[in-house]
Amino acid sequence: MNSMNIHDKTFVPYISREEIEKKTALLGRQISKDYSGKRPLFLAVLNGSFVFASDLFRQITIDAEISFIKLASYQGTASTGNVVTAIGLEEQVDGRHIIIVEDIIDTGKTLHEFIPSLLQQHPASIKIAALLTKPDALKFPVQADYSGFEIPEKFVVGYGLDYDGLGRNIPGIYQLATEDTL
Ligand code: XMP
Ligand code: MG
Repeated sequence: MNSMNIHDKTFVPYISREEIEKKTALLGRQISKDYSGKRPLFLAVLNGSFVFASDLFRQITIDAEISFIKLASYQGTASTGNVVTAIGLEEQVDGRHIIIVEDIIDTGKTLHEFIPSLLQQHPASIKIAALLTKPDALKFPVQADYSGFEIPEKFVVGYGLDYDGLGRNIPGIYQLATEDTL
């Protein structure tokens, strides 16, 4: 197998660019059908989702808008725990149909803490599109409404995802090598 080294670790091919392309087209068709006449606002969570968001968005065949946000975490009050807010969100969320675009949902913590702050802006609806989910790693009640691939609890890189800054430009997705995959 064509393994590759990034920093100190070895990764092996896991999901090919062709498989991702097919899945993205499928998700795009579903979303276009579900949101017909609703002009959804996609919120792509930087950095990781920039590649997926760009491919998914070009599969959308209805009127739609997209904005790129960064999520910033800070300590809230005792009752709110951690709070995650969006940086770079200039669009009015009030009354809009929001589709959050994530590269990967791992424990679900980030979105679990972000969604309450988005709800305060009274969107008409919020759904989540995630290229990857790790069901075994999930610790918070967050579910992708549009999910590309369910993967085991193993670290992956490529297609926007990084290992310590590197690997985002790899066209497919690679998985951290273990003895059984090498
Ligand atoms: P939570 O736990 O909040 O995590 O759902 C989501 C964020 O964790 C990062 N993450 C990964 N990044 N390969 C990566 O490159 C992975 O396998 C991985 N698992 C989690 C990612 O930044 C995501 O937004
Ligand atoms: Mg991310």
